[in-house]
Amino acid sequence: MSVVKINALAVPAEMREELERRFAGRAGMVESSDGFEWFELLRPMEGTDRYLVYTRWRSEEDFQRWQESQAFQAGHARAAGDAAAQGAAEGHGHGQAAGPGHGQGHGHGQGPAATGSELWSFEVVQSAGRKQA
Ligand code: HEM
Repeated sequence: MSVVKINALAVPAEMREELERRFAGRAGMVESSDGFEWFELLRPMEGTDRYLVYTRWRSEEDFQRWQESQAFQAGHARAAGDAAAQGAAEGHGHGQAAGPGHGQGHGHGQGPAATGSELWSFEVVQSAGRKQA
């Protein structure tokens, strides 16, 4: 049974653009992780201020494996800042110039764009979808 893992991010208004830029330049490694099924970055419109990072996995184990992987750490090197999420690599977490090089210059470069995060877990009970032509 698939599981959905949603990371709910608190993002100050002035950091929204920066957050979206970072995701646009994200490592993209999640796609090649075993058991990965779906990803969406959801921008809040009404009812909440939080961005949701929606991911769906074949199983809990697949998600756990990804979270412990290099791929996760690489994808979060910038997000981690000095706080080093889960003991992520590189002491200062912004070693990666992997993004498309739109410099993180102006003032709010290096640390996390989010001021808080909360992980929500769900089992998929039912689903439906439709491919657009
Ligand atoms: C410590 C809490 C977390 C924060 C503050 C955070 C924030 C971020 C940020 C800002 C990015 C953009 C990449 C970058 O900045 O270089 C990112 C990438 C991503 N995050 Fe998180 N994240 C956290 C934990 C998680 C968790 C638990 C999940 C699981 C649902 C998740 C799912 C993702 C995915 C799928 C990507 C794209 C990675 C890729 O393309 O390989 N994040 N995160």
